[in-house]
Amino acid sequence: MKMLAPLAGKHNVTDFEALCKSFEWSHMEREFSWFTTGKVNAAYEAVDRHAENPAKSDQLALIYQDGDTEEKWTFAQLKNRSNQAANMLKSLGVTKGDRVFLFMPRCPDFYASFFGILKNGAVAGPLFEAFMEQAVEDRLKDSGAKVLITTAELLPRVKRENLPDLKEIIVLDCEPADDLHDYEKLMNAASTAFEPVWLDKEDGMLLHYTSGSTGKPKGVYHAHRAMIQHYATGKWVLDLQESDVYWCTADPGWVTGTSYGIFGPWLNGATNVIAGGRFTPEAWYKMIEKHKVTVWYTAPTALRKLAAAGDEVAHSFDLSSLRHVLSVGEPLNPEIIYWAEEVYGKRIHDTWWMTETGAMLIVNHPTLPIKPGAMGKPIPGVEAAIIDDAGNVLPPHQSGNLAVKAGWPSMMKTIWGNQEKFDSYFINGWYVSGDSAKMDEDGYFWFEGRLDDVINTSGKLVGPFEVESKLIEHPAVTEAAVIGKPDEERGEIIKAFITLDKGHLDSIELREEIRLFIKKGLSAHAAPREIEIVSSIPKTRSGKIMRRLLRAKELGLPLGDTSTLEE
Ligand code: WT7
Repeated sequence: MKMLAPLAGKHNVTDFEALCKSFEWSHMEREFSWFTTGKVNAAYEAVDRHAENPAKSDQLALIYQDGDTEEKWTFAQLKNRSNQAANMLKSLGVTKGDRVFLFMPRCPDFYASFFGILKNGAVAGPLFEAFMEQAVEDRLKDSGAKVLITTAELLPRVKRENLPDLKEIIVLDCEPADDLHDYEKLMNAASTAFEPVWLDKEDGMLLHYTSGSTGKPKGVYHAHRAMIQHYATGKWVLDLQESDVYWCTADPGWVTGTSYGIFGPWLNGATNVIAGGRFTPEAWYKMIEKHKVTVWYTAPTALRKLAAAGDEVAHSFDLSSLRHVLSVGEPLNPEIIYWAEEVYGKRIHDTWWMTETGAMLIVNHPTLPIKPGAMGKPIPGVEAAIIDDAGNVLPPHQSGNLAVKAGWPSMMKTIWGNQEKFDSYFINGWYVSGDSAKMDEDGYFWFEGRLDDVINTSGKLVGPFEVESKLIEHPAVTEAAVIGKPDEERGEIIKAFITLDKGHLDSIELREEIRLFIKKGLSAHAAPREIEIVSSIPKTRSGKIMRRLLRAKELGLPLGDTSTLEE
């Protein structure tokens, strides 16, 4: 097995194995104010604490770049602006525990609003800006969102008539109609002074919706205590120093964009680069060159696109500021690690975790040798294992369920409104991830695949049920089944099998129309790239779609057990 040497230079943690042996999470609590006061607010720890420190208040907290638009905020400015947002929300009646959603593109005011929500003790629900009507409605409805902050452009996707709990909508970038609120106006009228609502570390902070193999997306509910692990992994794994210029490429509509686009960097007092606009290799490299990014957290799909753009593009930018590069979300191909080593002179450090786990659990720590293709080892304070379906721990080199011993700080509180679903994640005190993996003799974990039907396309999880439900709303579609199909660049693409209603004939135009129907109804990343018309959908006798069978057929694999197949 080829091993790559650890990252050169000095790190926050020099002896990872020793830390793993001695570490307890309670040690880390001492670093926060609640150790003495008993009360917490993650917004205070991430922003106000630095703003109140004369040595840090004028340091840049945020550098925002979208095309030629550039904005820079110090920690003091971020504190003031988020206090204004907190006062704005308070004036509209937001109180502890209310769900306040953010549906807007990445911009500095997203972050001000986000912290404004937390400062009121309310729960933030960030929505990915590419979500369309149905996706937006499902999330706002399930969470019982009371207030929404959005933009004039995205507002038409919010069907207010279906959302009785939604009391107030605040709109950026325009003078809205009478029953809506003008963001700028409210913000300008709001004071820059606000005393955060002091909370218990178990109090709710964040709702992120994620896809499962059955049902609509589920609301993964996180508590303020998660910040201990955001801070710890920011320090140990991202290796952040206060002088770092850090860039996480994920949108805050996804968990990576909050845990590591907000908390990891700011709890550690680093300068956080925020990129608006669309991905192009040139724009991304320019971001690193211009702002002298030192630590970069990105995803395999993006790295594969950058590799496909060619070495010359990379070489035409000065990327010498980079000292540490990390990846998350999908299997990181060894070829990409070798490519990055050659072209960037940097090795990519893979990390594994999930929306539900709230923060990194298995990582390539900077001081550990990298085994290309492995996700790394558990962080200090975390025990991971491969277990069988009965909850027994399996020996090294055997495939099974990747599981983590319950009890790490950033573990979700529950699934919103569905405690039963939450409970179903556990067996014998182990959290069962839904991934299959192996562990080797050195304790490194190797990802094998997902054990459910959830599709991972370009690092975004898509639940087949959600796409199937939308497909059958199209007048031409009677039944639908959706699978993931391996793809070089995107990891997987979505393929839909549909049966047509009488009176509709297969045509390229019809398939394109159906694809656009999903794109407009759910989101671009959920739209099937391939649609095949079939005469029937394989189902079990109890009526469950047998996606496994369709997938095996599509990939030319053995069909496996078909005893439950309906006649
Ligand atoms: C699923 C979780 C939390 C980060 C963003 C994704 C897959 C995640 C890796 C990795 C192979 C990975 C797993 C996991 N995944 N990281 N390093 N190697 N697969 O969060 O949307 O909740 O997805 O992403 O299948 O279960 P998510």
